[in-house]
Amino acid sequence: MCGIVAYVGYKKAHPILIKGLQRLEYRGYDSAGISVLNGKISTFKTKGKVAELENYIKSKDLDGQAGIAHTRWATHGEPNQVNAHPHFSQSKSISIIHNGIIENYAVLKEELVSRGYVFESDTDTEVLVNLIEDIRINEKVLLDEAVRIALCQVVGAYAIVILSDEHPNTLIAARKGSPLVIGIGDDDYYIASDATPIVEYTKNVVYLEDEEIAVLTRGEELKIRTTKNKEKTPYVQQLEWNLSELEKGGYDHFMMKEIYEQPRSIRDSMRGRLNPVTGNVSLGGIIDYEQKLLTAKRIIIIACGTSWHAGLVGEYLFEDIARIPVEVEYASEFRYRNPIITEEDVVIAISQSGETADTLAAIELAKQKGATIIGICNVVGSSIARATHAGSYTHAGPEIGVASTKAFTAQVTVLTLMALRLAQLNGAIPKTRFMQLLHELDSLPEKVEEVLNTNGLTEHIAKKYKDVNNFLYLGRGYNFPVALEGALKLKEISYIHAEGYPAAEMKHGPIALIDENMPVVFIAPQLGIYEKVVSNIQEVKARKGNVIAIVTEGDTIVRNMADYVIEIPKTEEYLVPILASIPLQKLAYHIAVLRNCNVDMPRNLAKSVTVE
Ligand code: AGP
Ligand code: GLU
Repeated sequence: MCGIVAYVGYKKAHPILIKGLQRLEYRGYDSAGISVLNGKISTFKTKGKVAELENYIKSKDLDGQAGIAHTRWATHGEPNQVNAHPHFSQSKSISIIHNGIIENYAVLKEELVSRGYVFESDTDTEVLVNLIEDIRINEKVLLDEAVRIALCQVVGAYAIVILSDEHPNTLIAARKGSPLVIGIGDDDYYIASDATPIVEYTKNVVYLEDEEIAVLTRGEELKIRTTKNKEKTPYVQQLEWNLSELEKGGYDHFMMKEIYEQPRSIRDSMRGRLNPVTGNVSLGGIIDYEQKLLTAKRIIIIACGTSWHAGLVGEYLFEDIARIPVEVEYASEFRYRNPIITEEDVVIAISQSGETADTLAAIELAKQKGATIIGICNVVGSSIARATHAGSYTHAGPEIGVASTKAFTAQVTVLTLMALRLAQLNGAIPKTRFMQLLHELDSLPEKVEEVLNTNGLTEHIAKKYKDVNNFLYLGRGYNFPVALEGALKLKEISYIHAEGYPAAEMKHGPIALIDENMPVVFIAPQLGIYEKVVSNIQEVKARKGNVIAIVTEGDTIVRNMADYVIEIPKTEEYLVPILASIPLQKLAYHIAVLRNCNVDMPRNLAKSVTVE
């Protein structure tokens, strides 16, 4: 998920590598490391920033014209020096850097342990490098062939680069699901997760495709073949972007980049946890606590801000799908209201950063009272992840924009998996229905992709309403939390006052606000109590309010009433929050940009709120 840089040629490798890591720092990471080859491989790693690594290697001998470097964003094992990359194979002959997740690492590791391999780290990456070494030795094949055979056994996502003391002038790179770019110099090669570390050396690049393996030897032609052993002709392209455009992947802001990353981040949150064919759902981190969750007197979800909104969706999911009673609380309120908590309660704490002070304090309180605490965090090894008894990571990748987008949809995805798993265990839904829900969840990333292709519609709507002072967001059932989240996104980044409300509550107060200047966003899919939401829309129109509605594709009823409609694909009711929140993220984004606001760093806000 984070940063890869590698070099092989005739220049000193390590300055290129360190500079490259610095260029990738915007991606967010928790530790860094470097391997350089000079006869033998020397490896140095540190927890923390690249500057610390740079400092650490100052006095070290780092000569060598081939090397690999990495910034890690932990998925397997805490962020510490041992788990940082590069990782060695057991013989110390092969060094690897890896971005992504090897889903079947546990099975592979077990097999390797039984064959005498000893592991230093908790990472999935060290499993892969030893698998490669094992194949190379036992099948007596060349290293690139061993890489190919190993990758055929691996399930998951990866971008890897390998350095070996047996082939001092060569690097081997491969990818599936995580990006990798090769820069072609005069007689040397650069590799990186994106083109930012490469652009100052060469404009000629090859974007490696999924399941391709590249062998890069200095002074020789680039060779690419697939994991199925088919040779490929490298397709060399010219880089046109400048550095700052590259960092944001061509988007103007991190927030938009992160919005567009959602098909991938949702897929990553489900990776290895869902099999729609066998009907298997498993969340490795909470397996030992499943019974506790099933027999809990109640589940209490605690969180702040956007994570609290995800928690509200979780309440609907757990009660609707798994029939387990849930309460959702702001962590900041929970900790001060002398709550009744017993050993029979399970508390689920949701946090992107894993560092939110209120959530952490609420966890400590519940722990003291004997409750079991499960975490749903995005940052591996964060304080909240460590303070909980067990948990599931969201694997959304680092989120840089202060306004949370992809972390929210990843949290809802994990909560959905949890609800489905519990329903499977307690038989709350019939098997055929369960399989339908599973299939629908599996196809969600493609539907998210469709929602993202709204071709300028949200921008057009943003232009119309950018100068208003108030916005109202309304939804019912699963979509009430979506209304809250839509309103929060708008306030945070555009500074327009916005309120989210359950649609039916409108007539108990907010209806007084409605006039011809008031835009009202309705989340109105053709599901659940659709007709009742349609009546609410009519009530707004009757008072000359402006209606922007998120509807199911093909809806004509709301289309005939609303000023604007944004369509989302047909799906199950329980998945609408994920699809419907995406156009709301985009709407907030476009309005903020049109109002010249600092989208990625809104005034007065911090990415993680580590104080009360
Ligand atoms: C979301 O856009 C916010 N910036 C904020 O509400 C955030 O969700 C909240 O501070 C909780 O953070 P956490 O998920 O890192 O605990
Ligand atoms: N899964 C690997 C690890 O936890 C790689 C993480 C990354 O992409 O940085 O070490």
